Amino acid sequence: MSEDNQKPEAQPSAVARGQREGHGRLGRIHQADWSTETQAIRSGQYRTEEQEHSEAIFPTSSFVFNSAAEAAAKFAGDVPGNIYSRFTNPTVRMFEERLAAMETPAGYAGGEISCIGTSSGMAAILATCMALLKQGDHIVSSRQVFGTTNVVFDKYLAKFGVTTTWVDLTDYEAWSAAIRPETKLLFLETPSNPLNEVADLDRLKAIAVAGDCLLVVDNCFCTPVLQQPLAFGADLIIHSATKYLDGQGRGIGGAVVGREDLVNEIKVFMRSGGFSMSPFNAWIFLKGLETLSIRMKAHCEQTAELARWLTEQSWVEKVYYCGLPTHPSHDIALRQQSGFGGVVSFTVAGGRDAAWRFIDGTRWISITANLGDVKTTMTHPGSTTHGRLSPEARAQAGIEDGLIRLCIGLESAEDIRKDLLSGSKAL
Ligand SMILES: Cc1ncc(COP(=O)(O)O)c(C=O)c1O
Repeated sequence: MSEDNQKPEAQPSAVARGQREGHGRLGRIHQADWSTETQAIRSGQYRTEEQEHSEAIFPTSSFVFNSAAEAAAKFAGDVPGNIYSRFTNPTVRMFEERLAAMETPAGYAGGEISCIGTSSGMAAILATCMALLKQGDHIVSSRQVFGTTNVVFDKYLAKFGVTTTWVDLTDYEAWSAAIRPETKLLFLETPSNPLNEVADLDRLKAIAVAGDCLLVVDNCFCTPVLQQPLAFGADLIIHSATKYLDGQGRGIGGAVVGREDLVNEIKVFMRSGGFSMSPFNAWIFLKGLETLSIRMKAHCEQTAELARWLTEQSWVEKVYYCGLPTHPSHDIALRQQSGFGGVVSFTVAGGRDAAWRFIDGTRWISITANLGDVKTTMTHPGSTTHGRLSPEARAQAGIEDGLIRLCIGLESAEDIRKDLLSGSKAL
């Protein structure tokens, strides 16, 4: 076994006489039968002899060995343990184990699930491609993905001979037709950003199996609280931890979760590739995961309420929220997700100028590219997240000039409504 694959060694349980079972327990803490809510708070913790209650941060670049022989054995992978924080750090590992536990559906029988933390969501996507693809390979990707993913595939992977065919997220015939013998990977986000389209993961899994390809799902919008893609046969899940996993806009990070054999290949790449998650960010994300379930429920409730309200406003042309019964993806979202998420987009008449006037007319909603924050955020996708796409590619992805994306935070719905009304007065 290589050192890249190592897991923290569970230390012997230190339950002293008279202590309740579990109290003061050292080593790795995990129970496979916990619910996602409990996994989010308890799973993956590696408690040291200091018996800290909250997870420890290990801000160290390297770890010491007791002897030259031990160093050699650890480098050779003969003995498990920490070596160097680019590829072994206990705080990062706690985050990885917690997220892996949360993404594993109850009673999952598809084999071992593993996770690797990365320095950003884009690093998670790039590391997956670098580790699993080679020159001549081919990707089929949904056109409705984060604009930077599009740039990575078309501009950078293409330089190394990995090509991509773009298809509409829900055009299943197009997915099947695009598969070639050299296709290795199907890539998608569901729900999509910013239009909330939802892909039928069962259908895409069947297409992936028929084409002998991996199914890779970016689960950034739903998080494991609302959707567990492994339950539908996904091989790998991508996360931008920057979004809901953190939840308070404090750090950039990412993760890949999924089949252990595949994640191990990514870990081996990452040891050299080096876009590792920092221990401090891992600690932030661990804390973020602890409140993820309750935050996601609140984001869903507020967004559903505001999406309904937007449909009633005269200054709104179209509203895109898969929680609305009128959204084309509503039925599949009901089947596949346990909530509809916190992102709602809408269009105003008058194209880009009107959208910009609306945005500038609001008083406090943050004009910022991030999402998944307790603070409500707003963007004009056509000139920011999707601004690097050609006008044709933007039109094909359904990104109209008058489109505004709202990521609803946890301020009061009444205050958010008032600020949106301020924006509407500038139209
Ligand atoms: C769906 C989705 N995936 C991936 C990313 C990339 O994540 P990061 O910004 O952490 O690199 C983003 C970023 O906005 C995103 O929205």
